[in-house]
Amino acid sequence: MKRTSSTRFYMGFLAVLITLFAIYNFTVYTKTNPESDLLLSREAIKGEDLWQQNNCFSCHQLYGLGGYLGPDLTNTYSTDGKGEAYIKAFLNSGIKTMPKFNFTEKEKSNLVAFLKEVDQTGIYPNLNAKIEKTGWVTLEYKSQKAK
Ligand code: HEC
Repeated sequence: MKRTSSTRFYMGFLAVLITLFAIYNFTVYTKTNPESDLLLSREAIKGEDLWQQNNCFSCHQLYGLGGYLGPDLTNTYSTDGKGEAYIKAFLNSGIKTMPKFNFTEKEKSNLVAFLKEVDQTGIYPNLNAKIEKTGWVTLEYKSQKAK
């Protein structure tokens, strides 16, 4: 069968589509997941377990979600005047309605690691977020904060 110029055109077009499909699949399935940067360290995962086992969420919030007897802890780690020693001081003291826990030094470090890594994910409340005229909200990110 003699190939007409239109069959050649369609064969060429098909080849282009197949190539694009191959490139698309390659990029989609070999791209590293941007979320993987957000995975917690081993230390922090142990801290998260302690956080759940001891019901910290019943009184505290992360990004505004949780119970409201105690303060939001999203950025406690990086707040001026707070940080590691400050957080540890609360854990076994029994202050106001916060129960007195009996964490070991290791467990305290794990909880601090958890709160530190949560802290690194963002700012809450995001007071410098800008609401554009289009209704789009641009958040302030940790990387933009002068500190
Ligand atoms: C029954 C409620 C309750 C539970 C459960 C609780 N807390 Fe608290 N927490 C509080 C209250 C109330 C305060 C505020 C105390 C104050 O300001 O004197 C507080 C304060 C804190 C602070 C200081 C926050 C700041 O910014 O000043 C940290 C850190 C903290 N808690 C961590 C934890 C962790 C971690 C757990 C779980 C292991 C936990 N809390 C469980 C009630 C609770």
